[in-house]
This record gives sequence, structure tokens and C-alpha cells, in this order.
Amino acid sequence: MSEYILEMKNITKEFPGVKALDNVTFKVKKGEVHALCGENGAGKSTLMKVLSGVYPFGSYSGDIIINDEVQKFNNISDSENKGVAIVYQELALVPQMSVAQNIYLANEPTILGNTTIDEQKLNYMAKELLNKLKLNIPTNTLVKTLGVGVQQLVEIAKALSKNVDILIFDEPTAALTDSEVETLFRIIKELKEKGITFIIITHKLEEIFEISDTVTTIRDGKTISTDDTNTLDEDKIIKMMVGREINDRYPKEIHKSEEIIMEVKNFNVYNPLMPDKKLVDNVSFNVKKGEILGISGLMGAGRTELVMGLFGAYSHTTGDIYIDGKKVNIKSPKDAIKNGLALVTEDRKGNGLVLSQSIMINTTLASLNKVLHRISLDNNKETFYTNKYVDQLKIKTPSIEQFVKNLSGGNQQKVVIGKWLMTEPKILILDEPTRGIDVGAKYEIYTLMNELVKQGVAVVMISSELPEIIGMSDRILVMHEGSFKGELSSSATQEDIMYFATGRRDINE
Ligand SMILES: Nc1ncnc2c1ncn2[C@@H]1O[C@H](COP(=O)(O)OP(=O)(O)OP(=O)(O)O)[C@@H](O)[C@H]1O
Ligand SMILES: [Mg+2]
Repeated sequence: MSEYILEMKNITKEFPGVKALDNVTFKVKKGEVHALCGENGAGKSTLMKVLSGVYPFGSYSGDIIINDEVQKFNNISDSENKGVAIVYQELALVPQMSVAQNIYLANEPTILGNTTIDEQKLNYMAKELLNKLKLNIPTNTLVKTLGVGVQQLVEIAKALSKNVDILIFDEPTAALTDSEVETLFRIIKELKEKGITFIIITHKLEEIFEISDTVTTIRDGKTISTDDTNTLDEDKIIKMMVGREINDRYPKEIHKSEEIIMEVKNFNVYNPLMPDKKLVDNVSFNVKKGEILGISGLMGAGRTELVMGLFGAYSHTTGDIYIDGKKVNIKSPKDAIKNGLALVTEDRKGNGLVLSQSIMINTTLASLNKVLHRISLDNNKETFYTNKYVDQLKIKTPSIEQFVKNLSGGNQQKVVIGKWLMTEPKILILDEPTRGIDVGAKYEIYTLMNELVKQGVAVVMISSELPEIIGMSDRILVMHEGSFKGELSSSATQEDIMYFATGRRDINE
């Protein structure tokens, strides 16, 4: 028997106008953790969808060999029957169903001799799995009430509920907190001991070194190399991914500015379901024209709630907002846009994009006034603006008519950014703007932030990545449990930020 549990040989997969995979070879040894790296749009997710039968036999060329046997999967259940399970990059749970129902969807335990679902057993089994993941939520919780991070863990529980030999994670940690990532990696290591093989896609290079044994890099749909992780370092991987060296990960510029563009006073956001509970507690701060203001904190600290609140996305907020010295009344995102705010949300699928529409429709969606001719849409204008942002952000697509759902994850994120740039905001708020974005594209986004700042835009960036916050911000505000704990300068260290983020000290002390 071959030492490889999986061999993908000469895989080629084309979409209209795109050769997503070009003769890719990918070999995975039994019981290893194999990392798959590459830029946005390199073909990583496509390769995994070929493997899992999402793209059936006949829709690609080349061979999938599992345990020395050529496989011809027609659908996902075929691959599952051969022990392949995948946790997708995009969340795929049914929001209206409970956690337990989602985990065992189409796989429900039934009452003996009957087709009725055994609810008790279902919940019991789900509870066991959740315990393993240290996920302390009732199994009957509706998925739609959970945050992105917890949903991701439920997806993982779902994959673990199946009888797997090869478990694929497509960017599993993008939305997880540090302790959730720790749990996940601990579980991976435990399951690896039991002989399970892992394929893991991630843009977080440090994770590759923490968890993987082997790394395969692909670029533009072609395999570049497969190496033992311990022969590599971050710079080597980056060079293989982007085909050139990147010396400086953060193009930091110090922006000097004194002119206050936005002032927030005693701002509170209340939980819409529990009106006596504050999500954001009496926050005051200002934003200066031409600066990058970083907002740091642990996940759940209230950062997203703060910016969503300012953007008019919460029904119940109190406090005062001044823009250009004038008090403004923002009761809806529409009001916010009118007052020069733009918000790139962290959850691009939920809030940012209409996936079943084209890049053009999505780009122009928040700026329809710019593409109107009298009362109808002017196609020339739409094309002009969309091309402008596709070029500026280097969005990888065969055409601006492409549906957003057909873009790779990172390129979808760029479309969201393009949409908000088109509104020409005074204050651009970015919530985790580089999540799921490759190192090269991250650099482009940072450069763009610097350019916008030079044009006088104020950029507010929430990020959980401490090197990114430190690498790009002029000032850093740190949140903990809904309030600001400290303000740091651009020379802060990660330890300084963590000090405030864990609530050890208070700004007022
Ligand atoms: N269903 C589809 N229809 C058309 N083109 C597609 C489709 N799915 C993927 N593509 C294209 O194939 C290429 C590879 O995409 P893929 O999603 O595999 O990239 P990726 O490496 O996973 O990137 P990311 O890191 O951004 O997730 C991209 O150019 C993408 O636009
Ligand atoms: Mg992908």
C-alpha cells in the first residue's frame, strides 16, 4: 500500500473564463496535518471541492486516489462514504434549526424500528460532541442566535460527527477567538494520534507552523511545491505563494493630524433582546481627519457592536455623535451613509454582499446616486466605477458581470471594500478587513488605507490581529466588556494591548 492516503493527480478544473486548477498534484500521507497555502483565488477551495465531490467526476480532469483506489465521486455523500469530510470556508448551517439538528442533519438517530427521529438521543449525542469541543451551549439553541465563531465550532462538531479518515478545514480559524483556536488545535492533535488525516487551509502563517507537518503551496492554479514544514519559514512560504519576496508586511506611515472629524460622547448600545443589558457602555472618543484609529480587544469585547451602533444598525442606542462639529442623528445605516460614514462589516456573507448578484451590482449598491441617469441606471457609469475599484483592489475575476458567489473568499472581501470606497466616505470603518485575505492582498489593502488617509479620510480599523493593529494604527483604543480601557500610541507592544484587553487596567485609573 502506498504511504499516501490521498493522491490528487493532474487535476484540471475550468470555469467559464477561469482555469481554476491547472494540472495540480497533491499528495497527502496518512495521519499527517497537511497545510494548503496560496493567495486568494489560487484554487485552494476549488481543489477541496473537487476532492469532496462538490464538483463531481466528469467536471474536472485528472484522478483522485484514496487508499490506492481511483474515486469517482458524484456528490458529497459519495466522498463522505469514503471517509472525507469538509468544513467549508463559508458557513453552511441552517440558521432556523437547532445546534443538535444541524450537527446530525440528514444523519439523525431514529427510534429503533421506526423512522421517527430520536430527539433525546440526538441531543445527548450532540451534547457529548460539544463537550469535546468545550462548547458550552444548550444543544437546542437556534444557530441563527450564535456568533460567527461559535457557528464555526458547530460546523466542526458536525464534521466530527461523521466517520472521517480525512478531515478538511477551509480556513477554520478565520472567525475564532484565540482560545477557540487553541481548542480546535488540541482536538486536531488528539484525532491525529488516532490516525485521522487533516488538510487545513489558512492564511495565518503562524498557524501553519503550529499545526502542520507538511505544506503544499499553489499559485495561479498550479502546484508550486510540497515541503516538510520544518524546512520552511514564513518568508519562504510567502515567496512561493506570491512569487516574489515581501520584505515589509506593514507599510506603516505616521499620520499627523489634529482636526477632529467625528466625536462620540457617552455612547451606549443596548441588547435588542434584553433592553436593560448594555453591549457598549458609555464610550467616548474622537476620530481625527487623516489618521488610522485602531480598535483592539478580544472577541466579544463589543467592538463590532460599537461600530454597528454608530452606523445606525442597532435599534436602541443613546449618546451623541458629532461629525465636522455638527451633532448628527443616525437612526439607520442610510442616515450614516448620508453623514459620510461607511462600514465594512466582518461578516461579509450576512451583511456585506448579495452573493447571487454581479460584482457590478454589489459595487454600486450603496452609491446608486452616482450611476443614475435621470431615473434609470446608466450602464456606462456602472461599468466605469466598477472597473475602477476592480482595478484598484486587484479583484481577480474574468469580468465585472461575474456573480460574487463565484469569487474566491478573499476577492469577495475586496468587493465589499470597493462598494464602500465608492461611497467616498469621510470616515471609513473597517471591521476585521483582512480576515481571509492573503499576505499580498493584505499589503494592498494597507497601502490603500494609507492612500485614503492622505486624501483626508479617517480610517477606523477593528482588528483581532495584534501585529496588524500595531503595524498600521496611529492610535489604538482597547475595549473590554463594552467599554474603553485604554488608549495607546503607535509604539505600543502586544503586551500593552493585552494588558488592557483582558481588563487588567482601566483608562480612568
Ligand atoms: N463556481 C465558480 N464559478 C466561476 N469561477 C469560480 C468558481 N469558483 C471559483 N472560481 C474561480 O476559481 C479561482 C479559484 O478560486 P478558489 O475559491 O479555489 O480560490 P482560493 O484559493 O480558495 O482563494 P481564497 O483564499 O480567497 O479563498 C478564482 O479565480 C475564482 O474566482
Ligand atoms: Mg478559498
